[in-house]
Amino acid sequence: DRKIKIAPSILAADFANFGAECAAVEAQGADWVHVDVMDGHFVPNITFGPATCAAIRPHIKGVMDVHLMIAPVDPYIDAFAKAGADVLTAHVEAGPHIHRTLQAIRAAGCKAGVALNPGTPAEAVAHLLDLTDLVCVMTVNPGFGGQKFIDMTAKVKTLRQMIGDRPIHIEIDGGMDPNTAPLMARAGADVLVAGSAVFKGGSVSDPAPYGANIRAI
Ligand code: DX5
Ligand code: ZN
Repeated sequence: DRKIKIAPSILAADFANFGAECAAVEAQGADWVHVDVMDGHFVPNITFGPATCAAIRPHIKGVMDVHLMIAPVDPYIDAFAKAGADVLTAHVEAGPHIHRTLQAIRAAGCKAGVALNPGTPAEAVAHLLDLTDLVCVMTVNPGFGGQKFIDMTAKVKTLRQMIGDRPIHIEIDGGMDPNTAPLMARAGADVLVAGSAVFKGGSVSDPAPYGANIRAI
């Protein structure tokens, strides 16, 4: 059986306490920390950029998984790599040169991730797999936390077949909770991003609910 990793998204954390929130979810059993970067252009919301990633980096012991919902991507790769991203994920829809972008992410020393919006087929990554360490399947339209899950079971199964025995993660992002997560794990995903379902009911001063929420997923 594949070991499933849980990657809490700090989009649902207290923005005034990112350092403490990252440490708290890790202490409560998070495998990775997922960091959502939005530019108000590729997606209709704005979060933060490389300076914030650099500031939270020392508060994360494990993998900092940075999801870039920005366009263009290439001018900012070095800044996010210097900020300490372990995984840097770009969207196939963010520009005409995703192949070049993935090459540049690896050249900058990061694991390269490629994300697919719900409307984008699995086949969009068919010629990218040798440049890719992670495929992120969006199960919401990116931009906001707390949205309703869009079932991408067929896409995940297709990707698992396309990937074969390559060491590539399949990550699911959006609407993961105790009902939807098992569907995606069964379809072949091994990294589950969860924002609202992890952070609900807890806080940095009362982090135990984070642990219970992680275990419930
Ligand atoms: C959506 C983000 C997700 C989001 C998930 O654009 O990429 O990572 O935080 O939030 P939930 O788990 O609440 O759907
Ligand atoms: Zn995300």
